[in-house]
Amino acid sequence: MDTLAFLIDRFDGKDTWCQRYTFAYRPGMTVLACLIHIKEHLDPTLNFTASCRSAICGACAVRVNGNAVLACDTMVDDLLKIWGEGALRISPLGNAKVISDLVVAWEEKIEHLRLAKPGLLAKHEFSAEKGCRQAPKEMQAVAKQWDCILCGSCASECNKLSDSGEDFLEPFVFTHAARYAEDSRSADPMRHVESVLAHGLWKCVHCMECVTKCPKHIRPGEDIAAMRHMAVASGHTDGPGPRHAEAFRTDLEKTGRLNEVRLVPRTEGMASAATKHLPFTLRMFAKGKLGVVEAARLFVADNPPVDNIDDLRKVIAPERN
Ligand code: SF4
Ligand code: SF4
Ligand code: FES
Repeated sequence: MDTLAFLIDRFDGKDTWCQRYTFAYRPGMTVLACLIHIKEHLDPTLNFTASCRSAICGACAVRVNGNAVLACDTMVDDLLKIWGEGALRISPLGNAKVISDLVVAWEEKIEHLRLAKPGLLAKHEFSAEKGCRQAPKEMQAVAKQWDCILCGSCASECNKLSDSGEDFLEPFVFTHAARYAEDSRSADPMRHVESVLAHGLWKCVHCMECVTKCPKHIRPGEDIAAMRHMAVASGHTDGPGPRHAEAFRTDLEKTGRLNEVRLVPRTEGMASAATKHLPFTLRMFAKGKLGVVEAARLFVADNPPVDNIDDLRKVIAPERN
């Protein structure tokens, strides 16, 4: 291929537009190499950020066709195999305030990071003289979270953030909380869990976009689940989040199937379920998604258990302990 076209989302602080750039393409170029080529040879006004070019500074994350990637670590040849020629659209990260073209603001995200109390209070047995050592296995338990390069890719397609960031934090903030909460040297692990508990720990919708987008293979969605376990185990069992998890698990243990008609009142309480969700329920009846008789049956009785329910219970049982 001699030429390649990029569509790039532009923003000059006032107007937004999509600009097409066609340029000489050499196989083996990264997305970042193409952006640099465009800036140096076609349009010096194009703005983006990058530093290390080695996938370690996290500065170059952008979206390609709606998917967050590190520009310096993404080969255009690979993208062309997926998307084809003439179809690559480069945009700034999602769920972020755009400053200019592909450049997004980080101040607010860094402030959110502070909420996780990112700093280790070491156990009393440690001292400056003796050091603060941990066994290799203990270190491995949090090693993955320490790989975070703060690129923001996990937040870009987070469905909870897209819905509302008012009561939620970027997925990497939860990962940073988990790396201190799960560190064997920590004198007060719950300090980090309780910090994020107050900022949406139970609001994650488990879409796992953060897991699929992280270039370092970190799994923020699983860090969130682990901290929920810690919160419940330490007595934070009140509220719709813990009640929903408990109702969910009780259904699986009893029958292997969710009883969604009873899940809502058990999560939110009968009064809230009746008032808040009544219009939605009536719409489901009207559209034939739920029958009145079936709803009444599920309200008074559980589903019959699935075949081999005991096998499922054996899988769930260790999680109870
Ligand atoms: S799993 Fe949770 S934190 Fe991760 S992207 Fe989905 S909603 Fe966001
Ligand atoms: S968790 Fe992964 S995707 Fe999120 S900021 Fe850290 S390195 Fe980037
Ligand atoms: S330029 Fe540093 S991660 Fe891409």
